[in-house]
Amino acid sequence: MRILVTGSTGEVGRRFVPRLLARAAGAGTVRILVRDRTRAEALTRLGAETLAGDLRELADLRAAVDGVDAVVNVAASFRGVPDEDAWAVNRDAALALGLAAQEAGVTRFVQVSTNLVYGAGHGRPAVEDDQPHPGSPLEGAYPQSKRAAEAGLLALHRDSGLDVRIGRLAYVYGEGDPHLTAVLHRAAHWPAHQRMMMVHHADTAQGLLRLLYAPGIAGRAYNIADDAPMTAVELHQLNGVPVPEGMADRPLPDPWHGIVSTVRIRDELGYRPLYPSAWAARDAGVL
Ligand SMILES: NC(=O)c1ccc[n+]([C@@H]2O[C@H](COP(=O)([O-])OP(=O)(O)OC[C@H]3O[C@@H](n4cnc5c(N)ncnc54)[C@H](OP(=O)(O)O)[C@@H]3O)[C@@H](O)[C@H]2O)c1
Repeated sequence: MRILVTGSTGEVGRRFVPRLLARAAGAGTVRILVRDRTRAEALTRLGAETLAGDLRELADLRAAVDGVDAVVNVAASFRGVPDEDAWAVNRDAALALGLAAQEAGVTRFVQVSTNLVYGAGHGRPAVEDDQPHPGSPLEGAYPQSKRAAEAGLLALHRDSGLDVRIGRLAYVYGEGDPHLTAVLHRAAHWPAHQRMMMVHHADTAQGLLRLLYAPGIAGRAYNIADDAPMTAVELHQLNGVPVPEGMADRPLPDPWHGIVSTVRIRDELGYRPLYPSAWAARDAGVL
């Protein structure tokens, strides 16, 4: 199988592509679309075919999907970007890529999404068929733009038969990703017992590879997360910094906000987290 991966210079992509190359070795090729070749040199050395381009340019999208069998769309624009950038990359470019893929005869399209699409108010761990209502004042247009991409790609699946699979990631950490430390900017203001659903890079890759290679799951979405969401207190402890005073007195309006079920990916795709909790990852020395 010839596979295109976008977003390979990002935190997820740069750790996913080596694992994909290992899996695809001898059985296919991996192409990466990057904006800056020099930042992809390590992946090129590992064997990725590297194409320079921007997801917002239709000609670049068409060149990227030419001759591939599958696409894994990891790229996104978030973390403090203007809303128009989030809409342009996360929704518009994702849909244009899906359309270009469908026109080029691509047979599988894995869309990397986020568990932020669920929003609050489910009263239990969110499951994939829950009605999403994304939104959070801290995230700008990011959750809505990712949900709009999901909806548009699923419409493409229904209308044109593109084999779309959606992976909704929890908060990704591990292997030196500064994300684990960055979360403290937010978690410092949370109630002590507010939880965040997490997933290690090894399990992010495991989940995405299962979505990519599984037969017969067109049009389905899967949550990809570990087993043990971390409280705001534990996020501080894990980072080795003091827990802010007064956290325990803050009210928690929705204890299920951000918490998702992984039953579907376990039952249908055999997913089992290698690192069931961030504590397990810490003990294994892979933070
Ligand atoms: N990290 C998490 O905790 C998390 C949680 C849930 C979901 N996700 C999803 O996982 C995916 C990857 O996240 P990440 O943390 O790896 O993000 P990231 O570190 O910000 O990486 C984003 C990637 O997208 C690329 N990109 C952005 N705009 C582009 C454009 N116009 N053309 C081509 N490439 C473009 C970036 O390229 P440059 O390097 O050139 O900027 C980079 O490679 C995203 O889809 C995100 O929604 C992540």
